[in-house]
Amino acid sequence: MAIHLAVVPVAGRGTRLLPVAKSQPKEMLPVGRKPAVQYVVEELARCGLGRLLFVTGPGKTAIENHFDIDGELIAHLRETGKEELLAELAFEREDLEYFYTRQRRQLGLGHAVLCAKAVVGHQPFVVALGDSIIGLHAQSRIVRVMIDQFEESDVDAVVALEEVLPEDVVRYGIAVPRNSAAEVFELADLIEKPAVGQVPSTLAVAARYVLSPRIFDCLENTPPDARGEIQLTDAIRMLIQQGRRVLGVRLPPGQTRFDVGNFESYFQAFVDFALADPQYGEALREHVRERLHSGDFTPREDRPCG
Ligand code: UTP
Repeated sequence: MAIHLAVVPVAGRGTRLLPVAKSQPKEMLPVGRKPAVQYVVEELARCGLGRLLFVTGPGKTAIENHFDIDGELIAHLRETGKEELLAELAFEREDLEYFYTRQRRQLGLGHAVLCAKAVVGHQPFVVALGDSIIGLHAQSRIVRVMIDQFEESDVDAVVALEEVLPEDVVRYGIAVPRNSAAEVFELADLIEKPAVGQVPSTLAVAARYVLSPRIFDCLENTPPDARGEIQLTDAIRMLIQQGRRVLGVRLPPGQTRFDVGNFESYFQAFVDFALADPQYGEALREHVRERLHSGDFTPREDRPCG
């Protein structure tokens, strides 16, 4: 069954990004010249997904506005002789259908996916986290590879995986391979935020999933974790425990997941995208070289006067 629908959860509060995400969606934070979620949409469009269902929540209307066609702005650019800027709005005309539903209480990623159940129905579907970009400039084809794997194999889930540092496994859902961890491999288990040394792997779930609708039964039966959140990885683990097959696909070498949901990786994402910008990257690289050379990173307000 061909897969056309991607669910994009964007309802999370983003508390790790306070105060910046207090009244604006973290998924709209700029990464280089575009908001993070625009790269996610462009990546999904490139991978052949034509229907996008955003699971939104309080304070997230900026995302809906961003993907609307803004006729007034287009007319204004034409009238004021700024036609060259129309290219910046080309994403509005992607051949995509947008749907929106609400997660009325922020009970975790698994719960956000469950909110999509009525719209998804009995079809397999993709889940792409709205706060995570894969690879530079939406070039990643990982979701296409995952869909092909799903369609060729008798499986109920395919998850994208990235290698993380051993001490960082505590922050992610970690895959346990059934046999060897090749480029594509079957999972024996999936453990949410394991202790260091608890799992024989450092392969973390990387923000992209292909799921069969069986996941909804698992989500409905997944108990909330210690923070009261329903985790998607726990529901996928339940699929494995029921004897269903789940595959992992590693991100290709050189492709990283840029998570804008915490300041450490948000800063890195912004810097990487800005440094690689075709128009402004070179000047920025020069600026950064100078700054690194000067070695003075004291915040301006802390510097002695005079
Ligand atoms: P996170 O795991 O970063 O959670 O979300 P969060 O609640 O947004 O952030 P913190 O922990 O408060 O800082 C990963 C993705 O899942 C969505 C988010 O919008 C983000 O795109 N999400 C998360 C939901 O849609 N609903 C939720 O209840 C939680």
